[in-house]
Amino acid sequence: MLSRRFVLQAGLATATLVFVPRTSTVFAQGAYPQTEAVLRRAREAETAAHFQYVAFARQAMADGYPGIAYLFTAFATAERIHSLNFEKVLAGMGVEATPVEDRDHRIGTTKENLIRAATDELASVNVVYPGMLKELAAEAMDEAVTFTTYAWNTEKLHLGILKSIQRWTPKHFEAVAKKIENETAQYLVCQVCGATMIKLPKSACPVCQFPLENIHRIEPPV
Ligand SMILES: [Fe+2]
Ligand SMILES: [Fe+2]
Repeated sequence: MLSRRFVLQAGLATATLVFVPRTSTVFAQGAYPQTEAVLRRAREAETAAHFQYVAFARQAMADGYPGIAYLFTAFATAERIHSLNFEKVLAGMGVEATPVEDRDHRIGTTKENLIRAATDELASVNVVYPGMLKELAAEAMDEAVTFTTYAWNTEKLHLGILKSIQRWTPKHFEAVAKKIENETAQYLVCQVCGATMIKLPKSACPVCQFPLENIHRIEPPV
């Protein structure tokens, strides 16, 4: 089981006192080769997704869709948290994180980017995370499985919305955009697991069950 403790979580825009699962367990280097390979790959993919959503948000602002830009900013924050979580588990395994480059992304119009985001997120839910968990099962390292399960469950929260974005955006983009623009007052992201929501839950994060003080309002882009 993971133990819990207060730590200063740096690396996000502001250092914040939050209650997070302990990831400082030190493992013998090379003891989990398959887990290490999976986590390295996952960390790179999550970081690339973070950069991509930052670029999508910039494009949405340029195209005049601040609400969609805000949604992409929330996604970018969640992906960054997933990436940092994998980085912490790797650090516990003695694996140093190498910088991931913010490469050129395939940036389209906001309509294209929204379709792409829904398609990528659905692929994560249906293919990527289940595949990772299958690979991790062989070595069954608790922390790797826990953080991957968190990441998977955060994406599963939005399955319904993602499917309707994917279904309706190609032919009815303006209606989808209007709905996003008009109906979202705020996005909140759990700093432990990356769960993204529009309302503060009653008692704890629905994904990681950590207390409400870990759920922060994301600032909209300007
Ligand atoms: Fe993710
Ligand atoms: Fe959470």
